[in-house]
Amino acid sequence: MWSSDALRRIRDDRPERRAPRGRRRLASLALLASPVSIGALTLWANAGTPGLAAADLAPRPAVPTLAPPATPRRTVELTLTAAPARLSLQPGAATDVFAYNGQVPGPTLDLREGDSVIVHFRNRLPEPSTIHWHGIVLPFIADGSPFHPVPPGGQHDYVFTIRRGTAGTYWYHPHPDHRTSYQVSKGLYGAIVVRAADDPLPRSLPEKLLVLSDNRFLADGSLDLPDPHSPGGRLDAENGREGDVLFVSGAIRPTLTIRSGEVQRWRVINASAARVYRLALPGHVLLQIGSDGGLFERPVEREEIVLGVGERAELLVRGTGAPNTRAVLRALPYDRYIPQTRPVDWAEPRDLLTLQYTTEAPTTPVALPAVLRRVPALDTTLVTATRVMVLTQHLINGKGMDMGRVDVSTTLGATEIWEVENLVGMDHPFHLHGFQFQVLDRNGVPEPYRAWKDVVNVPRHETARFIVRYDGYPGKWMYHCHILDHEDHGMMGVLEVKPSVEH
Ligand code: C2O
Ligand code: CU
Ligand code: CU
Repeated sequence: MWSSDALRRIRDDRPERRAPRGRRRLASLALLASPVSIGALTLWANAGTPGLAAADLAPRPAVPTLAPPATPRRTVELTLTAAPARLSLQPGAATDVFAYNGQVPGPTLDLREGDSVIVHFRNRLPEPSTIHWHGIVLPFIADGSPFHPVPPGGQHDYVFTIRRGTAGTYWYHPHPDHRTSYQVSKGLYGAIVVRAADDPLPRSLPEKLLVLSDNRFLADGSLDLPDPHSPGGRLDAENGREGDVLFVSGAIRPTLTIRSGEVQRWRVINASAARVYRLALPGHVLLQIGSDGGLFERPVEREEIVLGVGERAELLVRGTGAPNTRAVLRALPYDRYIPQTRPVDWAEPRDLLTLQYTTEAPTTPVALPAVLRRVPALDTTLVTATRVMVLTQHLINGKGMDMGRVDVSTTLGATEIWEVENLVGMDHPFHLHGFQFQVLDRNGVPEPYRAWKDVVNVPRHETARFIVRYDGYPGKWMYHCHILDHEDHGMMGVLEVKPSVEH
């Protein structure tokens, strides 16, 4: 029946690099036992695990989007333990970090649409934490938001189902009240890849996962996490904490190999606390095929791709170089800062990784599809409200975060427009939990193509508008600036989505 299919390994997709012994581990996975039926849902509960509350599981989509699975639903079950660890993040130095299952980044979750996912989270940190599944549509209790902190020594089971049509690149990170920047800086973040059975791209394309992050170290190898009241701490709070050491999936300037003529599929995640990446691969035109919530309708040629904080991009790298040459993926300067606190070296391009061509004779490039999938436009005639969000430093609509307050109240199934106005002189990446949206325009300029998004970077003094349909789950969903220090300082609000009367 489901035997081998239900057994899942969590792959560690560090590009072309083996982690030192001890850092490379498989997430512990349990073989699942007896099938249990709760209402219309069937899942396989771990033998000996107390039954899961039906309320945690019952999805109440206004419009059912889960097509009947063509194959038996697979259950993926794993344990993620957050705990202090001492790892070598930089050559020759050991650093005290926080790690998921002993590694930074944490294990990659390699999932498929339709999967039932059960993550047993164990918090072995000396402080409260959560795991938030950034961009995934899931029940409120599974969101890992500040509403559901897990105390030190505590545990929580995150249970959710991956929706059809949401294949894409996502990530996970802690989301405790006021401590997200600190915990992510300490090493808590990891990638999620969701695959579709009907993915339109050739399966033969080699795939690479690039988790971009940065960090800052003191001379003794420890992380530079200044006291919040020191000048350095205040600068981090203002700018968002950036580091001068750039990591690609935990490695510093790794090398990827490519054969001349080969096409590779890259999934890129900006997991930095504040850094924006303006990506370019000199000598190559990138073919962007998707963003936060999966594939575009058609590939788009790009000289460079700006990846705001929390955003993802899927792209195709075409090996147009000659055998035995090399190219460098660079982060070009991107000015997101106010002049007073702009880092002195902001205008220097940074090298992220080396792309080394093999000596093999060029291969014939594979044929690529011109159409990837349909991204149906959300219907603007159904819009029942426009939510205006005015961003100033550390505030949204003049208010700081209050967990006891509901800032926006609405109903499941409604379609609304959000107009996000940035009044200040630095960029703020705006993120919404619980639902994917479509950007309509930026500063009045219509978005050139449709995409499912969960973060939109709003540059200084600009306005972005997006349309969203609340067709996921009811609950209290956060929206916030994804510069983690801004989020921690209260640049966040609460959207309450109530179950609709018909349901
Ligand atoms: Cu990536 Cu509210 O978070
Ligand atoms: Cu999120
Ligand atoms: Cu911000």
